[in-house]
Amino acid sequence: MIYITGDTHGMIDWEKLNTTRFPEQKQLTKDDYLIILGDFGGVWGDDGEDRYVIKTYEKRNFTTLFIDGNHENHDLLDSFPVEEWHGGKIHKISDSVIHLMRGQIFEIDGKTFFTMGGAESTDKQYRKEGESWWAREMPSIEEYEEALDNLEMHGCKVDYILTHCAPEKTLSDLNVPNMYFRSSNKLTKFFDQLVPAVQFKDWYFGHYHFNSDLGKFHMLYSRIVEIT
Ligand SMILES: [Fe+2]
Repeated sequence: MIYITGDTHGMIDWEKLNTTRFPEQKQLTKDDYLIILGDFGGVWGDDGEDRYVIKTYEKRNFTTLFIDGNHENHDLLDSFPVEEWHGGKIHKISDSVIHLMRGQIFEIDGKTFFTMGGAESTDKQYRKEGESWWAREMPSIEEYEEALDNLEMHGCKVDYILTHCAPEKTLSDLNVPNMYFRSSNKLTKFFDQLVPAVQFKDWYFGHYHFNSDLGKFHMLYSRIVEIT
């Protein structure tokens, strides 16, 4: 089984994963997956808290996969060795907590997932570089190129697209009250270009702290969706 949800921000937004809100997990094993759509926040650099967050996910009845959001310690994430997993590049944070890197395509349980984390922080003027904000929140030129190369190698066709922020046009079509998180940038425009160029069943994204659907585009925050 594969489930997907929105931002967890370390311990701040992880109540949705308790057994009352997510009772399905009781039947799951480490062969099942929960994917967090960025702002995972468990690799933040506060050793005690990071250890507690990762240990808690280790105890859960599923393997945790996450793409990165903007609110991650990107320098610390980048310090983990890069490994190959299910066809794409990952950082293995612990036995069952895995960071799905940008521009990759993974095959999991017969389904293909294109992953492209990152987003621009709209609160960066209130944050300190290297402590609470990292320039690597936005993809590098190499990551954009790798994304396009991998999509091309897969015939520009995947089952699911997983990102932290949304294509710009999709976001303006969605009825989202929280304008605070919106920004127009290279990544949101890149996603606009992917919409007509890539064949996909569903596109899931987090970041905006709201749940909303528009056709095959799904904005997740508190909601946990099962991929069938
Ligand atoms: Fe975010």
